[in-house]
Amino acid sequence: MTDNNLRIHGTWSTQWTFILAAAGSAIGLGNLWKFPYIAGANGGGAFVLVYLLCIVLVGLPVMMAEIMLGRRGRQSPINSMRRLTREAGLHGFWNIIGWLGVVGGILILSYYAVVAGWALQYVVDALTGEFQGTSAAASSQRFATLLADRNTLVFWQSIFMILTVAVVAGGVVKGLGVAVRVMMPILLLLLGVLLIFGYHEGDFAQAWSFMFSLNFEALTLKGVLVAMGHSFFTLSLGMGAIMAYGAYMPDNARIGSTVLTIGGIDTAVSLIAGLAIFPMVFAHPELQASEGPGLLFVSLPVAFGNMAGGLFFGGLFFILVTLAAWSSAISLVEPGVAWLIESKGFNRFTANLLLGTAAWVLGLGTVLSFNAWQDYRVLGFNFFEFMDFITASVMLPLTGLFIAIFVGWVMKEYVVREELATESPGLFRIWYPLLRYCSSIAVAVIFVVGLYEVLLR
Ligand code: TRP
Repeated sequence: MTDNNLRIHGTWSTQWTFILAAAGSAIGLGNLWKFPYIAGANGGGAFVLVYLLCIVLVGLPVMMAEIMLGRRGRQSPINSMRRLTREAGLHGFWNIIGWLGVVGGILILSYYAVVAGWALQYVVDALTGEFQGTSAAASSQRFATLLADRNTLVFWQSIFMILTVAVVAGGVVKGLGVAVRVMMPILLLLLGVLLIFGYHEGDFAQAWSFMFSLNFEALTLKGVLVAMGHSFFTLSLGMGAIMAYGAYMPDNARIGSTVLTIGGIDTAVSLIAGLAIFPMVFAHPELQASEGPGLLFVSLPVAFGNMAGGLFFGGLFFILVTLAAWSSAISLVEPGVAWLIESKGFNRFTANLLLGTAAWVLGLGTVLSFNAWQDYRVLGFNFFEFMDFITASVMLPLTGLFIAIFVGWVMKEYVVREELATESPGLFRIWYPLLRYCSSIAVAVIFVVGLYEVLLR
């Protein structure tokens, strides 16, 4: 790392700090909120299988490539890519990886903050006893009332955005480690509590079979695209977040074992979240697995409202959802901020303020899509759905594809080998062909076919 960049951004003290930070970025609303609802909306089992395959065959290899690019470039994603392309004597086209990332991060953050805002409202509801003894019908009603109330939505969205910008302004290296170290274990513990409750009080058997029996009739091509897009989303890939974090990674740290650890934890959290939520859904006929974005928010209050200590567990759970969202949101802004500082002479504070404000304004569209604008549709999507689709199903896979092609085919093999010299040779032998022949082709095919279905139906 050049001294200059070390001074500007800092570096992770150990490999373990990097794992914590990357896990903090990966584990977020994508696991707790999004995975269960898209699995529910796409029929369960077959979707889950495709998702798991995408994690292993696409997500993990691309993650390794992305971290490697960041560590080699040692700058913000945009400038890392500039430097690597120049070094390889290549056309400026490849800089698009950095650009798509910075823009994608702000687009994702715009709706991410709105959903995190729901969680903040639920912290208050849980702690004031709103959920006590609640029925499934009342729970659905509570969520619908929240969505209709745009002032409250904007209020919490703003609070969350301020929290995010505040941490990024303080510098990522300082802010993250502690939060993640405390938060992750408690989050896992609470998911365990929910799992046990669901096992005893909900319809666990049906939840299990919904998530793991392979009903391929329920899966559409669009569903396959959504599953692949989500494998990028949940691992924070395809927009430079992990690349930016990789830039702060010590040279001697092992990328391979890091990637497997993060991928393993992230996938476990998603599956457990599903297994905690679906038993409640199937135990109450008023609730639907295909409920949509509200799934987490209508099903879990029913669990907390009817369990011993639910007031405490419910409050703590939604606090943790917020914290998990927070540590993820930070990594959505960081690439853009790092670039504005390096290249445009901004200081951390103003860079943040600028990007945070942009995401906040865009987020108003998502707020309105749940009430005033709910009937405005493009290609059948409302504003929120469109943002989600364009980012998770288009931009992330596209950038992921570029990364796979760049590292797999464009960069010289000896450069890649050199960068991964400390990794075990066996790992390289599996990873490199996987990236070249499997990840890139799978992403390209699923992307084209899925998009075709969306655009022409
Ligand atoms: N991975 C996070 C989640 O699952 C979201 C996220 C954070 C993200 N940073 C990202 C997604 C970068 C894509 C790219 O909630």
